[in-house]
Amino acid sequence: MNPLSKPILLLGAAFCIAGTPALAADLEAGKKKARQCRTCHGLDGIARIPIAPHLAGESQVYIETQLKAFRNGKREHEMMTVVAEDLSDEDISDLAKWYSSIKITATMPD
Ligand code: HEC
Repeated sequence: MNPLSKPILLLGAAFCIAGTPALAADLEAGKKKARQCRTCHGLDGIARIPIAPHLAGESQVYIETQLKAFRNGKREHEMMTVVAEDLSDEDISDLAKWYSSIKITATMPD
């Protein structure tokens, strides 16, 4: 093997990994897709019904993990199981990008 080819191959591999993120989440697409979540979670990620959690500012990885868990049945809920069934991996990453990008502040009680 040419002595130069190994570092070049390694560099190539590094670029491949860096250049192809699992899925490039799309904020605008996430906002549009979040319309189907807004009756319960709000478009702004602040829940509209008492039994739904706020999603604003929740981490990308947590939202994705939970949506996949609802989709594959590891986590069950009568509402979310139905919602998650129809979501693709791309939908999940876009939605997670949207909700995780919302900035929130917290005020503690005195
Ligand atoms: C009909 C109401 C409803 C709709 C519509 C809905 N959800 Fe939910 N969602 C819920 C409820 C209720 C829970 C709490 C489930 C539980 O108690 O386990 C939940 C939980 C979640 C969780 C887990 C959050 C956590 O803190 O563990 C995520 C993530 C989530 N929903 C995302 C979405 C997304 C994204 C959409 C739109 C594609 C959506 N939901 C649409 C009602 C809804």
